[in-house]
Amino acid sequence: MKIEEKLLEQALKARKNAYAPYSHFSVGAAIYAKSGKIYASCNVENVSFPCGTCAEAGAISAMIAAGDTKIKAILVASSGKNLIYPCGACLQRIAEFSDEKTKIYLANTKEICKTYTLNELLPHGFKEDI
Ligand code: THU
Repeated sequence: MKIEEKLLEQALKARKNAYAPYSHFSVGAAIYAKSGKIYASCNVENVSFPCGTCAEAGAISAMIAAGDTKIKAILVASSGKNLIYPCGACLQRIAEFSDEKTKIYLANTKEICKTYTLNELLPHGFKEDI
């Protein structure tokens, strides 16, 4: 099985556990980390709306907690008419642990529809310059 297929499988599995009673929009994300391990998560909403977290943020937390620090690829899966792109805050979160080769796969519940580099989605991300 190709790594992209494994990412899709894991993201969709996590997506089934999404806690999205407010938006009713379930998202799954899976990271292929430098160690070769995969970390997946889903969005977790809250009655106090800003407290909710995106699927990407959960997958990054799982990766960091496990001791991995580099994202080789990340896949985001959702359903709906249009493909979703990671939000601006998540692009910045992904940037923290990525390099110019990091791939971002966007998928629906069946297949990967688009592939980007982080630079294509966040060409001018914030970088500390002190
Ligand atoms: N969401 C994600 O989990 N990832 C994204 O890239 C975009 C949005 C979640 C947040 C919220 O729980 C729901 O999707 C609707 O915005």
